[in-house]
Amino acid sequence: MAVPFIDLRRFEDDFLDRWQQICDRISRNTQFVGGPEAERLEHALRERAEVAGVVGCANGTDAIQLALRALGIGRGDTVVIPDATFWATFEAVVNVGADVVTVDIDAEDLQMDYHLLQEAIETHRPQAVILVHLYGWGSARLNDIRRLCRDRNIPLIEDGAQAIGVQWQGRSIYQASLIATVSFYPAKVLGSCGDAGAVFCNPLADGTDPSTVIRQLGNHGRTSHYGHGLVGWNSRMGGFDAAFLNLSLEYLDQRLADRRRLAAEYRERLSRLDVAPEDLRIIAPPAGYEENGYLNVLRVEPSLRAEIQDALKSEDIGFGNVYPGAMSQQPGAAPFLKASFGGREAQALSESVLNLPLFAYMRAEELDEVISAVERALASR
Ligand SMILES: Cc1ncc(COP(=O)(O)O)c(C=O)c1O
Repeated sequence: MAVPFIDLRRFEDDFLDRWQQICDRISRNTQFVGGPEAERLEHALRERAEVAGVVGCANGTDAIQLALRALGIGRGDTVVIPDATFWATFEAVVNVGADVVTVDIDAEDLQMDYHLLQEAIETHRPQAVILVHLYGWGSARLNDIRRLCRDRNIPLIEDGAQAIGVQWQGRSIYQASLIATVSFYPAKVLGSCGDAGAVFCNPLADGTDPSTVIRQLGNHGRTSHYGHGLVGWNSRMGGFDAAFLNLSLEYLDQRLADRRRLAAEYRERLSRLDVAPEDLRIIAPPAGYEENGYLNVLRVEPSLRAEIQDALKSEDIGFGNVYPGAMSQQPGAAPFLKASFGGREAQALSESVLNLPLFAYMRAEELDEVISAVERALASR
């Protein structure tokens, strides 16, 4: 049985009928950009993320750029990012004119390393730090990282593109962030019917609310229809995206529950496999997190990983390697890379990471098929 890495077609029984009615309404009303659906979405996300302000935008990469611009980051500035992330984090820094310093990840939680971040801050005095919440959880030292940046007066942006639904110490992971960003790319836990994103914000250190300037930057710096107080760009959210997300939000809790159940079942069944733990390590979120089940993450000895991947391919089972290369090693990085702290762990992760299929409403027989394929690959060694 073929098993996709992700299947975006697993909608709830009534979802598509409801969506068609909404499409009909939006088409008749021609509410194609922004509008009441976008306002309703921002309100719902404010509640869910437990933050003071939400500004919808065109995608998760723009969301990071809007956050950087709102904090005044630009030409000549330095921004620290983790060496393991999606390239969009790197791009966003470069696109606002700043240089990048990469910091290696912690081998346990796979998020930015606290001590190396401290070293990077001492050495480069960056104008901002971007922490990325990867894989469906965040750093075990999230509070320490937030405190470190606050104490040094360095704004911390949290790239939470993958973190919708993640709970940290019983609250939304975004709740105590200064400024956080999210992506609603269709493959995300809360995905749209196209590209979309949002910036989540709380009051800045001086008490000001950044959401006004973020909204302005994402709408051509407008002060009136033809008055432009800032140079921004067009990063408005579409009406169909907002409506699709509003509808999806009604089902989000059940999708999250299913993803979490599957993630737990994977861990339980994989932990029973006949393989040395140093050859196949099952990664779990650190204490304090309730994950969102975005990805299933294994660290597999590279030659064994190749064998398992060959077996999965031959049985038409999808898999991922998120991410197959560290940021500092990307061919496009060199002109903008000011420094790198560590790097070995991000590189080792890229050589060993394996993600097995995981998506809401994955069937029991599909999970069985994936586990059997891994078992067969192990048995044939
Ligand atoms: C960590 C991270 N940052 C940023 C992005 C960029 O989001 P988007 O694809 O919506 O621009 C993504 C998702 O693709 C991501 O996973």
